[in-house]
Amino acid sequence: MNFELLIVDYASEYYPQILELRNHVLRKPLGLNLFDEDLSEDKNQYVVAAIQNEEILGCLMIKILDKDTVKYRQMAIKNSLQGKGIGTTILKYADNFCILNDYTQVLLHARQSARNFYIRNGFEEVGDEFEEVGIPHVVMQKQLSLNQ
Ligand SMILES: CC(C)(COP(=O)(O)OP(=O)(O)OC[C@H]1O[C@@H](n2cnc3c(N)ncnc32)[C@H](O)[C@@H]1OP(=O)(O)O)[C@@H](O)C(=O)NCCC(=O)NCCS
Repeated sequence: MNFELLIVDYASEYYPQILELRNHVLRKPLGLNLFDEDLSEDKNQYVVAAIQNEEILGCLMIKILDKDTVKYRQMAIKNSLQGKGIGTTILKYADNFCILNDYTQVLLHARQSARNFYIRNGFEEVGDEFEEVGIPHVVMQKQLSLNQ
């Protein structure tokens, strides 16, 4: 598939579309509404976005936790385009961005349904299952290095 990858933030013209995608893919199927949540922490985060003809196909947010560690969150690919490699491409781009910015570790809260996707992308499970937004999740982590 032909798409561009960009790093944007909440001030981007694409941000409203990114919010709509996150709500549609990650919240509506659970009977929730993203716009009921406190989104103020988005302001300090990066978003990796896959874009085609000004349409957002997928996104991933990067939150800085400390000087070594980032957290990936809110990964969502447009429903009709899942399973076509966009998510894998976004993750690789995010990893490279973080490596170039001297981060050495990434954490995320994976839905059980996405666990294998993250394992195939080099993450390992740490700790026990817990509930978030009403569904089971597990913490996963990956060490970032230039040689991966
Ligand atoms: C999980 C997700 C980000 C993966 O991105 P993607 O572009 O679909 O994945 P890719 O095409 O790069 O990788 C394909 C793999 O992802 C997995 N996958 C595909 N669709 C999926 C889906 N709807 N939910 C979970 N995993 C899925 C499959 O295991 C697939 O592996 P396969 O090729 O062996 O069948 C994406 O499917 C998605 O947005 N799912 C719904 C929201 C979600 O679960 N987000 C993650 C929250 S932690």
